[in-house]
Amino acid sequence: MDTFRIVELFQKKYGKQPRLFKAPGRVNLIGEHTDYNDGFVMPMAIDRWTIVAGTPREDSKVNVTSITLDKSVSFDLNKPGEPKRGEWYDYVEGVAQALLKSGATLRGADFIIDSNIPIGAGLSSSASIEVAIGFAFLVLSNLPIDRIKLALAGQNAEHNYVGMNCGIMDQFISTLGKKNHALLIDCRSLDYKTIKLELSDFLFVICDTRVKHKLSSSEYNIRRQECEKGVKILRKILPNIKALRDVTFSEFNCHANILPVNVQKRCKHVIQENLRTVQAAEAFSKGHLGMLKELMAASHRSLRDDYQVSCKELDVLVDLASFQNGVTGSRMTGGGFGGCTINLVNKSNVQEFKASICKEYFAQTQINPEIHVCEPSDGACEII
Ligand code: GLA
Repeated sequence: MDTFRIVELFQKKYGKQPRLFKAPGRVNLIGEHTDYNDGFVMPMAIDRWTIVAGTPREDSKVNVTSITLDKSVSFDLNKPGEPKRGEWYDYVEGVAQALLKSGATLRGADFIIDSNIPIGAGLSSSASIEVAIGFAFLVLSNLPIDRIKLALAGQNAEHNYVGMNCGIMDQFISTLGKKNHALLIDCRSLDYKTIKLELSDFLFVICDTRVKHKLSSSEYNIRRQECEKGVKILRKILPNIKALRDVTFSEFNCHANILPVNVQKRCKHVIQENLRTVQAAEAFSKGHLGMLKELMAASHRSLRDDYQVSCKELDVLVDLASFQNGVTGSRMTGGGFGGCTINLVNKSNVQEFKASICKEYFAQTQINPEIHVCEPSDGACEII
Protein backbone atom coordinates (compact mmCIF):
# COMPACT_ATOMS: atom_id res chain seq x y z
CA MET A 1 0.00 0.00 0.00
CA ASP A 2 1.29 3.42 -0.95
CA THR A 3 2.38 5.46 2.09
CA PHE A 4 3.28 8.60 0.15
CA ARG A 5 -0.18 10.18 0.48
CA ILE A 6 -0.48 9.74 4.24
CA VAL A 7 3.07 11.02 4.92
CA GLU A 8 2.57 14.07 2.72
CA LEU A 9 -0.73 14.88 4.41
CA PHE A 10 0.77 14.43 7.86
CA GLN A 11 3.68 16.75 7.07
CA LYS A 12 1.30 19.37 5.71
CA LYS A 13 -0.98 19.19 8.76
CA TYR A 14 1.55 18.81 11.58
CA GLY A 15 4.86 19.97 10.03
CA LYS A 16 6.63 16.80 11.20
CA GLN A 17 7.83 13.48 9.86
CA PRO A 18 5.50 10.77 11.29
CA ARG A 19 6.28 7.17 12.23
CA LEU A 20 4.13 4.67 10.33
CA PHE A 21 2.33 1.59 11.60
CA LYS A 22 0.10 -0.95 9.90
CA ALA A 23 -2.30 -3.73 10.89
CA PRO A 24 -3.98 -6.15 8.46
CA GLY A 25 -7.59 -7.18 7.90
CA ARG A 26 -8.39 -10.87 7.96
CA VAL A 27 -10.32 -13.64 6.36
CA ASN A 28 -11.42 -16.63 8.39
CA LEU A 29 -10.81 -19.93 6.59
CA ILE A 30 -12.99 -21.93 8.98
CA GLY A 31 -14.22 -21.86 12.59
CA GLU A 32 -17.11 -19.41 12.49
CA HIS A 33 -18.91 -18.20 15.62
CA THR A 34 -16.76 -20.51 17.71
CA ASP A 35 -14.39 -17.94 19.24
CA TYR A 36 -16.85 -16.64 21.87
CA ASN A 37 -17.66 -20.25 22.76
CA ASP A 38 -14.04 -20.88 23.85
CA GLY A 39 -13.54 -22.87 20.64
CA PHE A 40 -11.16 -23.00 17.65
CA VAL A 41 -10.81 -20.66 14.68
CA MET A 42 -8.47 -20.63 11.70
CA PRO A 43 -8.10 -17.17 10.18
CA MET A 44 -5.31 -15.67 8.10
CA ALA A 45 -4.25 -12.01 7.97
CA ILE A 46 -4.64 -10.55 4.46
CA ASP A 47 -2.53 -8.14 2.45
CA ARG A 48 -4.92 -5.24 3.03
CA TRP A 49 -4.13 -2.84 5.85
CA THR A 50 -5.01 0.08 8.01
CA ILE A 51 -2.05 2.45 8.13
CA VAL A 52 -1.54 4.93 10.93
CA ALA A 53 0.87 7.87 10.73
CA GLY A 54 1.59 9.39 14.13
CA THR A 55 3.79 11.48 16.38
CA PRO A 56 3.59 11.75 20.18
CA ARG A 57 2.47 14.91 21.98
CA GLU A 58 3.55 16.46 25.25
CA ASP A 59 -0.03 16.59 26.59
CA SER A 60 -2.90 14.09 26.83
CA LYS A 61 -4.73 15.28 23.70
CA VAL A 62 -5.32 12.98 20.73
CA ASN A 63 -6.06 14.33 17.25
CA VAL A 64 -7.18 11.81 14.65
CA THR A 65 -7.99 12.25 10.97
CA SER A 66 -9.40 9.46 8.82
CA ILE A 67 -8.51 9.86 5.15
CA THR A 68 -11.01 7.19 4.11
CA LEU A 69 -13.92 8.90 5.89
CA ASP A 70 -12.62 12.45 5.41
CA LYS A 71 -13.32 13.19 9.09
CA SER A 72 -11.33 14.43 12.08
CA VAL A 73 -11.85 14.30 15.82
CA SER A 74 -10.01 15.31 19.00
CA PHE A 75 -10.29 13.82 22.46
CA ASP A 76 -8.44 13.83 25.76
CA LEU A 77 -7.00 10.64 27.23
CA ASN A 78 -7.86 11.88 30.72
CA LYS A 79 -11.48 12.71 29.93
CA PRO A 80 -13.03 9.61 28.33
CA GLY A 81 -16.04 10.40 26.14
CA GLU A 82 -19.38 8.62 26.26
CA PRO A 83 -19.10 5.04 25.00
CA LYS A 84 -21.34 3.54 22.27
CA ARG A 85 -21.90 6.73 20.29
CA GLY A 86 -22.01 4.82 17.04
CA GLU A 87 -19.09 6.93 15.77
CA TRP A 88 -16.04 5.82 13.77
CA TYR A 89 -13.73 7.09 16.53
CA ASP A 90 -15.30 4.74 19.13
CA TYR A 91 -12.70 2.23 17.89
CA VAL A 92 -9.85 4.70 18.40
CA GLU A 93 -10.85 6.12 21.77
CA GLY A 94 -12.05 2.67 22.88
CA VAL A 95 -8.65 1.08 22.36
CA ALA A 96 -6.88 3.99 24.08
CA GLN A 97 -9.16 3.66 27.09
CA ALA A 98 -8.70 -0.13 27.17
CA LEU A 99 -4.89 0.25 27.13
CA LEU A 100 -5.04 2.89 29.88
CA LYS A 101 -7.26 0.59 31.95
CA SER A 102 -4.74 -2.24 31.54
CA GLY A 103 -2.10 -0.01 33.13
CA ALA A 104 -0.35 1.50 30.06
CA THR A 105 0.79 5.10 30.52
CA LEU A 106 -0.07 6.52 27.12
CA ARG A 107 1.06 9.83 25.68
CA GLY A 108 -1.25 11.99 23.64
CA ALA A 109 -0.64 11.81 19.89
CA ASP A 110 -1.46 13.24 16.47
CA PHE A 111 -2.66 10.57 14.06
CA ILE A 112 -3.76 10.21 10.46
CA ILE A 113 -5.38 6.92 9.43
CA ASP A 114 -5.69 5.43 5.96
CA SER A 115 -6.93 2.01 4.88
CA ASN A 116 -7.40 -0.18 1.83
CA ILE A 117 -9.64 -2.69 3.62
CA PRO A 118 -13.21 -2.41 2.35
CA ILE A 119 -15.36 -1.04 5.20
CA GLY A 120 -18.29 -3.18 6.38
CA ALA A 121 -17.32 -6.12 4.16
CA GLY A 122 -16.57 -8.46 7.07
CA LEU A 123 -12.80 -8.31 6.52
CA SER A 124 -12.20 -6.78 9.96
CA SER A 125 -11.47 -3.22 8.99
CA SER A 126 -12.49 -2.19 12.52
CA ALA A 127 -10.23 -4.70 14.29
CA SER A 128 -7.36 -3.50 12.11
CA ILE A 129 -8.00 0.12 13.17
CA GLU A 130 -7.99 -0.92 16.83
CA VAL A 131 -4.78 -2.88 16.44
CA ALA A 132 -2.95 -0.30 14.29
CA ILE A 133 -3.89 2.57 16.62
CA GLY A 134 -3.12 0.53 19.75
CA PHE A 135 0.26 -0.45 18.30
CA ALA A 136 1.01 3.18 17.44
CA PHE A 137 -0.02 4.43 20.90
CA LEU A 138 2.27 1.90 22.60
CA VAL A 139 5.31 2.57 20.42
CA LEU A 140 4.89 6.36 20.57
CA SER A 141 4.61 6.10 24.36
CA ASN A 142 7.85 4.03 24.47
CA LEU A 143 5.99 1.01 25.82
CA PRO A 144 6.67 -2.65 24.92
CA ILE A 145 4.23 -4.49 22.64
CA ASP A 146 2.54 -7.53 24.15
CA ARG A 147 0.59 -8.73 21.12
CA ILE A 148 -1.95 -10.76 23.03
CA LYS A 149 -2.68 -7.89 25.42
CA LEU A 150 -3.03 -5.59 22.43
CA ALA A 151 -5.58 -7.96 20.85
CA LEU A 152 -7.48 -8.08 24.14
CA ALA A 153 -7.50 -4.27 24.30
CA GLY A 154 -9.05 -4.19 20.82
CA GLN A 155 -11.72 -6.68 21.89
CA ASN A 156 -12.34 -4.65 25.03
CA ALA A 157 -12.90 -1.55 22.85
CA GLU A 158 -15.56 -3.48 20.88
CA HIS A 159 -17.32 -4.64 24.03
CA ASN A 160 -17.22 -1.40 25.99
CA TYR A 161 -17.03 1.36 23.41
CA VAL A 162 -18.62 -0.04 20.26
CA GLY A 163 -21.21 -2.34 21.82
CA MET A 164 -20.37 -5.47 19.85
CA ASN A 165 -19.76 -8.53 22.06
CA CYS A 166 -17.29 -10.04 19.62
CA GLY A 167 -14.84 -12.88 20.23
CA ILE A 168 -11.07 -12.50 20.05
CA MET A 169 -10.44 -13.83 16.52
CA ASP A 170 -10.23 -10.60 14.51
CA GLN A 171 -7.93 -8.64 16.81
CA PHE A 172 -5.80 -11.73 17.48
CA ILE A 173 -5.04 -12.45 13.83
CA SER A 174 -4.46 -8.78 13.10
CA THR A 175 -1.74 -8.65 15.78
CA LEU A 176 -0.28 -12.16 15.39
CA GLY A 177 -0.82 -13.08 11.72
CA LYS A 178 2.07 -14.73 9.88
CA LYS A 179 3.03 -14.51 6.19
CA ASN A 180 2.08 -17.66 4.22
CA HIS A 181 0.32 -19.11 7.24
CA ALA A 182 -3.07 -19.29 8.90
CA LEU A 183 -3.31 -19.57 12.69
CA LEU A 184 -5.25 -22.30 14.45
CA ILE A 185 -6.25 -20.41 17.59
CA ASP A 186 -7.54 -21.97 20.77
CA CYS A 187 -9.80 -19.14 21.92
CA ARG A 188 -9.88 -20.43 25.49
CA SER A 189 -6.16 -20.60 26.26
CA LEU A 190 -5.15 -18.16 23.49
CA ASP A 191 -2.49 -20.66 22.42
CA TYR A 192 -2.09 -20.97 18.68
CA LYS A 193 -0.39 -23.04 16.02
CA THR A 194 0.86 -21.66 12.73
CA ILE A 195 -0.54 -23.64 9.80
CA LYS A 196 1.56 -23.42 6.67
CA LEU A 197 -0.71 -22.86 3.71
CA GLU A 198 0.97 -25.26 1.32
CA LEU A 199 -1.28 -24.62 -1.60
CA SER A 200 1.14 -23.74 -4.35
CA ASP A 201 -1.48 -24.03 -7.08
CA PHE A 202 -4.26 -22.24 -5.23
CA LEU A 203 -5.12 -18.64 -4.50
CA PHE A 204 -7.36 -17.23 -1.78
CA VAL A 205 -10.17 -15.44 -3.56
CA ILE A 206 -12.55 -13.31 -1.52
CA CYS A 207 -15.91 -12.46 -3.07
CA ASP A 208 -17.70 -9.50 -1.49
CA THR A 209 -21.51 -9.60 -1.75
CA ARG A 210 -21.46 -5.79 -1.27
CA VAL A 211 -24.40 -6.10 1.09
CA LYS A 212 -24.41 -5.59 4.83
CA HIS A 213 -27.78 -6.36 6.33
CA LYS A 214 -28.75 -4.18 9.28
CA LEU A 215 -29.31 -7.18 11.50
CA SER A 216 -25.64 -8.08 11.73
CA SER A 217 -24.62 -6.70 15.12
CA SER A 218 -27.95 -7.20 16.94
CA GLU A 219 -28.29 -10.78 15.64
CA TYR A 220 -24.63 -11.42 16.53
CA ASN A 221 -25.27 -10.51 20.16
CA ILE A 222 -28.45 -12.66 20.12
CA ARG A 223 -26.50 -15.70 18.82
CA ARG A 224 -24.01 -15.26 21.62
CA GLN A 225 -26.82 -15.19 24.20
CA GLU A 226 -28.41 -18.29 22.67
CA CYS A 227 -25.12 -20.17 23.05
CA GLU A 228 -24.83 -19.05 26.66
CA LYS A 229 -28.38 -20.20 27.26
CA GLY A 230 -27.50 -23.60 25.78
CA VAL A 231 -24.56 -23.93 28.20
CA LYS A 232 -26.74 -22.93 31.15
CA ILE A 233 -29.36 -25.57 30.35
CA LEU A 234 -26.86 -28.32 29.49
CA ARG A 235 -24.98 -27.63 32.72
CA LYS A 236 -27.90 -29.13 34.65
CA ILE A 237 -26.92 -32.50 33.17
CA LEU A 238 -23.22 -31.84 32.44
CA PRO A 239 -22.19 -29.81 35.51
CA ASN A 240 -18.53 -29.50 34.51
CA ILE A 241 -19.00 -27.65 31.24
CA LYS A 242 -17.97 -24.00 31.08
CA ALA A 243 -18.68 -23.35 27.40
CA LEU A 244 -19.93 -25.21 24.30
CA ARG A 245 -16.29 -26.10 23.69
CA ASP A 246 -16.62 -28.63 26.54
CA VAL A 247 -19.60 -30.52 25.08
CA THR A 248 -18.82 -33.52 22.87
CA PHE A 249 -21.04 -34.23 19.88
CA SER A 250 -22.28 -37.47 21.41
CA GLU A 251 -23.17 -35.70 24.68
CA PHE A 252 -25.00 -33.10 22.63
CA ASN A 253 -26.94 -35.80 20.76
CA CYS A 254 -27.95 -37.42 24.05
CA HIS A 255 -29.25 -34.23 25.62
CA ALA A 256 -30.27 -32.00 22.72
CA ASN A 257 -33.96 -32.61 23.45
CA ILE A 258 -33.83 -30.51 26.63
CA LEU A 259 -32.92 -27.42 24.61
CA PRO A 260 -35.37 -25.07 22.87
CA VAL A 261 -35.26 -25.71 19.10
CA ASN A 262 -33.33 -22.59 18.09
CA VAL A 263 -30.79 -23.05 20.92
CA GLN A 264 -30.39 -26.67 19.84
CA LYS A 265 -29.50 -25.56 16.31
CA ARG A 266 -27.00 -22.96 17.50
CA CYS A 267 -25.25 -25.47 19.80
CA LYS A 268 -25.13 -28.09 17.05
CA HIS A 269 -23.37 -25.66 14.74
CA VAL A 270 -20.77 -24.61 17.31
CA ILE A 271 -19.94 -28.14 18.49
CA GLN A 272 -19.54 -29.47 14.96
CA GLU A 273 -17.72 -26.39 13.69
CA ASN A 274 -15.05 -26.84 16.37
CA LEU A 275 -14.45 -30.39 15.12
CA ARG A 276 -14.36 -29.23 11.51
CA THR A 277 -11.82 -26.52 12.32
CA VAL A 278 -9.35 -28.90 13.93
CA GLN A 279 -9.79 -31.32 11.01
CA ALA A 280 -9.32 -28.52 8.48
CA ALA A 281 -6.02 -27.52 10.09
CA GLU A 282 -4.84 -31.06 9.53
CA ALA A 283 -6.18 -31.14 5.98
CA PHE A 284 -4.30 -27.90 5.18
CA SER A 285 -1.10 -29.21 6.74
CA LYS A 286 -1.27 -32.46 4.78
CA GLY A 287 -2.56 -30.91 1.57
CA HIS A 288 -5.78 -33.00 1.64
CA LEU A 289 -7.75 -30.66 -0.56
CA GLY A 290 -10.74 -32.94 -1.07
CA MET A 291 -11.32 -33.06 2.66
CA LEU A 292 -10.94 -29.31 2.92
CA LYS A 293 -13.60 -28.81 0.28
CA GLU A 294 -16.03 -31.01 2.20
CA LEU A 295 -15.32 -29.27 5.52
CA MET A 296 -15.81 -25.80 4.06
CA ALA A 297 -19.06 -26.85 2.38
CA ALA A 298 -20.35 -28.38 5.63
CA SER A 299 -19.39 -25.22 7.52
CA HIS A 300 -21.39 -23.08 5.11
CA ARG A 301 -24.47 -25.34 5.27
CA SER A 302 -24.36 -25.29 9.04
CA LEU A 303 -24.05 -21.48 9.19
CA ARG A 304 -26.95 -21.21 6.75
CA ASP A 305 -29.32 -23.79 8.24
CA ASP A 306 -28.44 -24.15 11.93
CA TYR A 307 -26.73 -20.94 12.96
CA GLN A 308 -28.85 -18.94 10.48
CA VAL A 309 -26.36 -16.13 9.85
CA SER A 310 -26.07 -16.43 6.07
CA CYS A 311 -28.20 -14.48 3.61
CA LYS A 312 -29.40 -14.88 0.04
CA GLU A 313 -26.40 -13.06 -1.47
CA LEU A 314 -23.83 -15.21 0.39
CA ASP A 315 -25.68 -18.39 -0.59
CA VAL A 316 -25.75 -17.30 -4.24
CA LEU A 317 -21.97 -16.77 -4.23
CA VAL A 318 -21.29 -20.16 -2.60
CA ASP A 319 -23.69 -21.92 -5.00
CA LEU A 320 -22.09 -20.27 -8.01
CA ALA A 321 -18.60 -21.23 -6.80
CA SER A 322 -19.64 -24.86 -6.61
CA PHE A 323 -20.16 -24.90 -10.40
CA GLN A 324 -16.78 -23.33 -11.27
CA ASN A 325 -13.68 -25.21 -12.37
CA GLY A 326 -10.73 -25.45 -10.02
CA VAL A 327 -12.52 -24.53 -6.78
CA THR A 328 -11.35 -26.35 -3.66
CA GLY A 329 -13.68 -24.91 -1.10
CA SER A 330 -16.07 -22.03 -0.70
CA ARG A 331 -17.96 -20.72 2.30
CA MET A 332 -19.23 -17.53 3.90
CA THR A 333 -16.66 -15.98 6.20
CA GLY A 334 -16.97 -13.67 9.21
CA GLY A 335 -20.06 -12.75 11.20
CA GLY A 336 -22.52 -13.14 8.30
CA PHE A 337 -25.66 -11.26 7.13
CA GLY A 338 -23.67 -10.02 4.15
CA GLY A 339 -19.96 -9.54 3.76
CA CYS A 340 -17.79 -12.04 1.93
CA THR A 341 -17.18 -15.62 0.89
CA ILE A 342 -13.72 -17.20 0.90
CA ASN A 343 -12.83 -19.44 -2.04
CA LEU A 344 -9.76 -21.52 -2.76
CA VAL A 345 -9.29 -21.35 -6.50
CA ASN A 346 -6.70 -22.96 -8.73
CA LYS A 347 -4.39 -20.29 -10.14
CA SER A 348 -5.13 -21.23 -13.71
CA ASN A 349 -8.89 -20.84 -13.16
CA VAL A 350 -8.92 -17.51 -11.32
CA GLN A 351 -9.63 -15.28 -14.33
CA GLU A 352 -12.44 -17.49 -15.55
CA PHE A 353 -13.78 -17.74 -11.95
CA LYS A 354 -13.86 -13.96 -11.56
CA ALA A 355 -15.59 -13.35 -14.88
CA SER A 356 -18.21 -16.01 -14.35
CA ILE A 357 -18.99 -15.07 -10.71
CA CYS A 358 -19.35 -11.38 -11.62
CA LYS A 359 -21.73 -12.15 -14.48
CA GLU A 360 -23.88 -14.72 -12.70
CA TYR A 361 -24.03 -12.89 -9.37
CA PHE A 362 -25.17 -9.74 -11.13
CA ALA A 363 -27.79 -11.71 -13.06
CA GLN A 364 -29.25 -13.07 -9.80
CA THR A 365 -28.93 -10.04 -7.50
CA GLN A 366 -28.41 -6.95 -9.72
CA ILE A 367 -25.29 -6.21 -7.64
CA ASN A 368 -21.72 -6.10 -8.93
CA PRO A 369 -19.60 -8.09 -6.50
CA GLU A 370 -16.10 -7.05 -5.50
CA ILE A 371 -13.44 -9.75 -5.91
CA HIS A 372 -10.09 -9.68 -4.08
CA VAL A 373 -7.24 -12.15 -4.47
CA CYS A 374 -5.42 -12.09 -1.12
CA GLU A 375 -2.22 -13.45 0.36
CA PRO A 376 -1.69 -14.67 3.92
CA SER A 377 0.26 -11.87 5.57
CA ASP A 378 2.07 -10.79 8.73
CA GLY A 379 0.36 -9.12 11.66
CA ALA A 380 0.80 -5.54 12.85
CA CYS A 381 4.18 -3.84 12.63
CA GLU A 382 5.92 -0.51 12.31
CA ILE A 383 6.73 0.36 8.71
CA ILE A 384 10.40 1.25 8.69
C1 GLA B 1 -17.04 -11.39 13.85
C2 GLA B 1 -16.46 -11.28 15.27
C3 GLA B 1 -15.53 -12.46 15.57
C4 GLA B 1 -16.19 -13.80 15.25
C5 GLA B 1 -16.84 -13.78 13.87
C6 GLA B 1 -17.66 -15.01 13.60
O1 GLA B 1 -16.03 -11.23 12.92
O2 GLA B 1 -15.75 -10.08 15.43
O3 GLA B 1 -15.09 -12.41 16.91
O4 GLA B 1 -17.10 -14.15 16.25
O5 GLA B 1 -17.68 -12.64 13.68
O6 GLA B 1 -16.86 -16.12 13.53
